[in-house]
Amino acid sequence: MPLLITGATGHLGRLVVEQLLAAGVPAGDIIATGRATDKLKDLADRGVQVRAVDLDDPAAVRAAVGDADRVLLISASDPGARVGQHRTVIDAARAAGTGLLAYTSIVNADTLTIRLAEDHQATERLLRDSGVPYVLLRNSWYHENYTDRLPAFLAQGKIPGSAGDGRISAAARADYAAAAVAVLTTDGHAGQAYELGGDDPFTLAELAAEIAAQSGREVRYVDLPEAGYAQALRDHGMPDPYPAMVAETDAAAAHGALHTGSGHLSALTGRPATTLSAAVAAALRAR
Ligand SMILES: NC(=O)c1ccc[n+]([C@@H]2O[C@H](COP(=O)([O-])OP(=O)(O)OC[C@H]3O[C@@H](n4cnc5c(N)ncnc54)[C@H](OP(=O)(O)O)[C@@H]3O)[C@@H](O)[C@H]2O)c1
Repeated sequence: MPLLITGATGHLGRLVVEQLLAAGVPAGDIIATGRATDKLKDLADRGVQVRAVDLDDPAAVRAAVGDADRVLLISASDPGARVGQHRTVIDAARAAGTGLLAYTSIVNADTLTIRLAEDHQATERLLRDSGVPYVLLRNSWYHENYTDRLPAFLAQGKIPGSAGDGRISAAARADYAAAAVAVLTTDGHAGQAYELGGDDPFTLAELAAEIAAQSGREVRYVDLPEAGYAQALRDHGMPDPYPAMVAETDAAAAHGALHTGSGHLSALTGRPATTLSAAVAAALRAR
């Protein structure tokens, strides 16, 4: 039963493929796709079907999706183009009679009113109208959104943000990958919308305190107005339009936008999600 993964050349997709292999899915049943397939040579060497598929190329998408029983559509990365790219995959899945399409959406997609959510909400509408059996993996924030910036936090002694006292249900990418593997390899998920997040939501002040405690360095959270945080992200080299979108999301997180108490992630994976403490420890070790 071939499983097709879009975005397999990216961080989340790579983890999904690795975890499918670890779960015993035969390599030949995994179709790993993306544009930069040079990154997947090691997977091809292990027998995974690696295919260069640009989501802007409907014929290539149709050819790849036509061979798959289940598809994981990992949301693409270009906010201006990705709804059309997702539509291409959904159309191909409908034409092929795909058994299940899993889509990585955003947590609380039903209620969010931020720009970051718009493409996910549009894609969810396309899925609802498509007739394709689908499951929504509504992911909260990745731990890595913070831990990748650890060197800057330590150098500056501060974590800037606009999330106030909002609790953020972040989890490791590997946890979200495990949830995707669960819906791809077990039955009964069609029609479900899973609100996925860590088991122990934290504030950014708690994140700063954890980094400070584990590193022995002074790190504090500095809450900024939304516009000030967007400028700080620009000053650190984040290209437009992302600073405004990230700052808007952070400001919404102050009111619970990235929080979920659903327990769906650990229920799907059968184990607790990675803790903040473990994520910080791993990031400090990897420096
Ligand atoms: N929840 C969160 O905290 C969070 C944070 C960041 C992003 N996200 C979302 O989650 C997705 C996965 O996260 P990630 O960390 O794995 O992101 P990533 O490493 O940037 O991977 C993005 C993937 O999308 C693929 N892609 C983009 N445009 C494509 C196109 N036109 N045709 C084919 N493939 C295309 C890329 O393939 P190539 O490299 O081969 O082009 C890559 O494999 C992101 O794309 C984004 O939508 C979520």
